[in-house]
Parts: sequence; C-alpha cells; structure tokens
Amino acid sequence: MQKGKFITIDGVEGAGKSTQIDFICQYLADKGINVALTREPGGTEIGEKIRTLLLSNSTGEMHADTELMLMFAARNEHIQNKIIPTLNQGNWVLSDRFTDASYAYQGGGRGLDIARIAQLEQWVMRNFAPDMTLLLDVPVEIGMQRVESRGEKDRIEQESLDFFNRVRNAYIARSERYPERIKLIDSSQTTEHTQQQINAILDKL
Ligand code: TMP
Repeated sequence: MQKGKFITIDGVEGAGKSTQIDFICQYLADKGINVALTREPGGTEIGEKIRTLLLSNSTGEMHADTELMLMFAARNEHIQNKIIPTLNQGNWVLSDRFTDASYAYQGGGRGLDIARIAQLEQWVMRNFAPDMTLLLDVPVEIGMQRVESRGEKDRIEQESLDFFNRVRNAYIARSERYPERIKLIDSSQTTEHTQQQINAILDKL
C-alpha cells in the first residue's frame, strides 16, 4: 500500500486553524482520501495528558527547557504510535500543529537557542518530516482579539503581545527558510479568502 501524506497546519493563536481544518478534511474526503485528524501537543493518550500539564493554568511557572522537552516527549509518542502507523496503512494524516510550533513558541517566544531545538528535533524525528505545512498568518492583534472572544485563556495564551509577535516572526522566518514545505497563507481577511489560498495549494498537491 502506498504511504499516505502527512500535512500539518500551524500559526499564531487565533489564526483560524479550526475552521480551515474542517475545510481541508472536507476537501480531502471529496477526493476520496481518508485523513486522520490529530493535534499537538496531544494526539495519543499520553500526549493528551502531557497537553493538560502544558496548557493548564494550574500548572503555573515552568522552565522553558522543560516545556520544550515535554512538547517533544508528546511528539515522540505521537509520531511512533499514531502518525507513522496511520501513514503506513495508506491513510493521510493532518496534524493541528507540529514541530514548527516548537521553533516558533519555545524558540521565538521563549527565546530558546534554535540549535538546541534542532538537536532535539534530530533526536526525536530522525529524518521524519511533514510532506507539507500550511502556515496561517495573521497580525497578532487580530489573532488575539479572536482568542479573547473565545473565553478563558490557557497557560500559553496568557503570554504578552511581544511574545506572540516573536512567535509570528519565527514562523515567518521558517517559511522563508523552507519555502518548498511551508506554505504561508494570509489569514487576516475573510474565511473564504483563506480557503481559496488553501484550495489552490491542495489542488497542486
Ligand atoms: P492549540 O493547538 O489549541 O492552539 O494550543 C496548543 C498550544 O501549545 C498553543 O499555544 C501553541 C503551543 N505549542 C507550543 O508552544 N509548542 C509546540 O511545540 C506545540 C505543538 C504547541
């Protein structure tokens, strides 16, 4: 059986991932492609427990290195026990966030050394990588307005505008470094405008 494709979707808070994920799943279903939707941190039983620890406000202060290693611990479980087995069955996988988020949030946001993140990535992922990443980009002020309207913020959403501007810049820098894989999508306008861009990219894929 042919191996399925691995697609990831990422972006700052409030970039509109959830709406576009529904659209992508429908697009693939219409083409007769089975896609397993999953997320990070999370996607497995252990990964979801780590997610609760990472995002719960009751966790309080956490050392940035601990945060990074927990992201990768959840990711290891996710890759080994969910993503690779699903791809090997010939199905596609769509992950709501993946390793680019560690470079953006822990690298850009928390200021961790990119070279150290790359070491951890090499250790956990070896040569595994997404076939394609859709990066939804929106100015932080717009994204945070969308988050505010959703209600209570989690541990990471509590961060400052400066933090999220660093996250956004780190995402953009990665899309410039890996233009073949990471497709930068302007998500600041209407849902339909974002969908049209995703549609064109998926048509090519
Ligand atoms: P969300 O996917 O529901 O938006 O929430 C996940 C949060 O975790 C979000 O604030 C981004 C953050 N995150 C990291 O900081 N590093 C990572 O590697 C991943 C996957 C997520």
